[in-house]
Amino acid sequence: MSKKLFIETLGCAMNSRDSEHMIAELKEKEGYETTENFRDADLILINTCSVREKPVQKLFSELGVFYKKKKEGAKIGVCGCTASHLGAEIIKRAPYVSFVLGARNVSKISEVLHRDKAVEIDINYDESEFAFKDFRSSPYKGFINISIGCDKACTFCIVPKTRGEEISIPDSLIINEAKRIVESGAKEIFLLGQNVNNYGRRFSGEHEKVNFTELLRRLSEIDALERIRFTSPHPFHMDDEFIEEFARNPKICKSMHMPLQSGSSKVLKDMKRGYTKEWFLNRVAKLKSECPQATISTDIIVAFPGESDEDFAESIDVMKQVEFDQIFSFKYSPRPETEAEHFTNTVDEEIASDRLNMLQSLNNEIIDKKNARQLGKVYRVYFEALNKDNYVAGRSDNNILIKVKGSDELLGEFRDVKITAIGRTILTGEILA
Ligand code: 5AD
Ligand code: SF4
Repeated sequence: MSKKLFIETLGCAMNSRDSEHMIAELKEKEGYETTENFRDADLILINTCSVREKPVQKLFSELGVFYKKKKEGAKIGVCGCTASHLGAEIIKRAPYVSFVLGARNVSKISEVLHRDKAVEIDINYDESEFAFKDFRSSPYKGFINISIGCDKACTFCIVPKTRGEEISIPDSLIINEAKRIVESGAKEIFLLGQNVNNYGRRFSGEHEKVNFTELLRRLSEIDALERIRFTSPHPFHMDDEFIEEFARNPKICKSMHMPLQSGSSKVLKDMKRGYTKEWFLNRVAKLKSECPQATISTDIIVAFPGESDEDFAESIDVMKQVEFDQIFSFKYSPRPETEAEHFTNTVDEEIASDRLNMLQSLNNEIIDKKNARQLGKVYRVYFEALNKDNYVAGRSDNNILIKVKGSDELLGEFRDVKITAIGRTILTGEILA
């Protein structure tokens, strides 16, 4: 009988891809099959996130539950960003943990499995050309890492300390991976990196100078590939050439994530984001004029140290001007080994909560107003998930989530859909004959 693996994934899309890589390695090299029930598992992996304090606290409470209720003899491994950051301390606090594997050391999963109390967390380890075994959780789209690590030094962010310096993956490997995905029947690829439009900054070996725009052009030459998505681009690197290619190339999906973080140029400077409010708005204006149908999503942090009422009002102002289609908003959370951890001009917890609420209610107003205009519109939807009550869900090119009545026959198919009902997170439609 095969051994069973339970894996819990927290955090971002890069972590999800790392989990797929670990599943692939453990299936092919160690004979594991995945299970949804941790009580059946011979190996429990938690792939952690450390971007904010909350998920770190959650790790230790979850570990306790896994330890108490796991099958006898089952191993527990801690992977991902918190593993990189806390390392051996995890085993000190939870001595029943068998190994700790950092976000930059995923390729060593089948090795650490056999070394009790192994701690592999070198953030300079270069996995950019490692030939991972293949496993994909969706048959309809494939995630592809295009770079590892991050070279930025945003003062709030722990990621450079957990994922190390940025190294781009050679374009030939990315293109081959995209071809394999398409040959398996999927029609969409999703390119991943901390800072995708900084692609080509540094390769592990000698490599032709290829930037992100050129990578997108080369990928779009793959015949059977219909859709290309990516996350996250950085507003600082959004040059005209990139925005124009985004608008012009029919295979590039028309949704852009533009992490604002703050609308105040002063706060942006303290965050070391490398752009001002004006630059951000200038890039949005360029994007909207080149590609009016594009949707724009963003990340915003409230109550960064020193954020005054006036600074916060600038974030609100940008939200009103841009009318983002989706926002991910967070209260600032001080992180170890970051510059901002030492900033003393912190904002009161109560003010932080008020600001987050204000931001989120404004966002809801904007979304409701935009959604009201969707009735009767027609979108081409790529179906990828079965929902309850005989609904099938998919996304429009510009990333609007839409469901229709239907069966699994629609999965992996494109259809034109007319919007008939509005919800805040998903629209409902009917397939046009
Ligand atoms: N506190 C709050 N939010 C943070 N993010 C990153 N670091 C922090 C932090 N210390 C947010 C940013 C980033 C998203 C992934 O998480 O908005 O874009
Ligand atoms: Fe992803 Fe950042 Fe969380 Fe690491 S810390 S899992 S890179 S969001």
